Amino acid sequence: MYFNRKTFMRGVVAAASVATTAAVYRRLNGKSEAAVEAPKLAGLEAPAVSAEAAAADGYRIDEAMTPLASVTHYNNFYEFTTDKDGVADRAKDFSTKGWQVTVDGLVGKPRVFDLADLLKISPPEERIYRMRCVEAWSMVIPWAGFSLSKLLARVEPLSAAKYVAFETLLDPARMPGQKTGVLDWPYIEGLRMDEAMHPLTILASGLYGRELPAQDGAPVRLVVPWKYGFKGIKSVVKISLVAAQPKTTWNLQAPDEYGFFANVNPKVDHPRWSQATEQRIGESGRRATLMFNGYGKQVASLYSGMDLRANF
Ligand code: MTE
Repeated sequence: MYFNRKTFMRGVVAAASVATTAAVYRRLNGKSEAAVEAPKLAGLEAPAVSAEAAAADGYRIDEAMTPLASVTHYNNFYEFTTDKDGVADRAKDFSTKGWQVTVDGLVGKPRVFDLADLLKISPPEERIYRMRCVEAWSMVIPWAGFSLSKLLARVEPLSAAKYVAFETLLDPARMPGQKTGVLDWPYIEGLRMDEAMHPLTILASGLYGRELPAQDGAPVRLVVPWKYGFKGIKSVVKISLVAAQPKTTWNLQAPDEYGFFANVNPKVDHPRWSQATEQRIGESGRRATLMFNGYGKQVASLYSGMDLRANF
């Protein structure tokens, strides 16, 4: 009975979110830029390479950025609420004081980083990425962060490390959504080692030149632009290098709907909706979804010879 109810509720949540996306984007589109309250991000690097080189790397795409108001007021962060419009308000008092990130597992130098030390690994760079949610809406977000590979290099991965597992903070007092059973907590995610080492995979600590707002995953979250947005785990406290493919939250919830790889793929539909097109928040009309979210040139080789329908 419990699992049936859970499955039913998941269906309701997903169907409602697809149905309301169009209405919500119209409303958000009319909103002026939200007052920016987050402090300016320290040390944001002036771009070291030309716009052309950045575009070729996929680091900064040349597409209209989604307004800040939408990036910060249309969120998926179930630790606070399943209501996309409500996350910002529910998360507004979230404190990241004393934040630490443990990096352990199959590494030569496991370490617990204080946030400030973690962020010192490399100055943040601006990365303007598409983000395609599995629910078929998308945004273009100017993140600030650095390649996860730089952190992994610090802890000296052992050759037995084949995957990287990530965990969000577990603290129901600070994240009230964790008092509900809507997901199994803590939120967990994973990448294959080569995906984790790819330069496009970043740990983001800011957006729009400011510190990451709580609703977007403060103080530090993962961004993997060629994968569906749910791979971008927020408010990370633990990163473990492991030998076997780690379990992931959405795959545990609905294994037939959300795979481990979750590469954006317009040819592999979700069982309950098409993935061929998407609603770019702030635009009218739908646009075609791109293979690997438009990052095929950079990442397709990671999957050569793999059946992407079976490994969805
Ligand atoms: N991380 C945690 N811990 N909890 C979540 O509910 N939602 C995911 C992902 N990371 C989620 C999460 C989903 S479904 C998406 S689409 C993106 O965050 C949304 O990121 P945004 O709200 O910053 O746009």
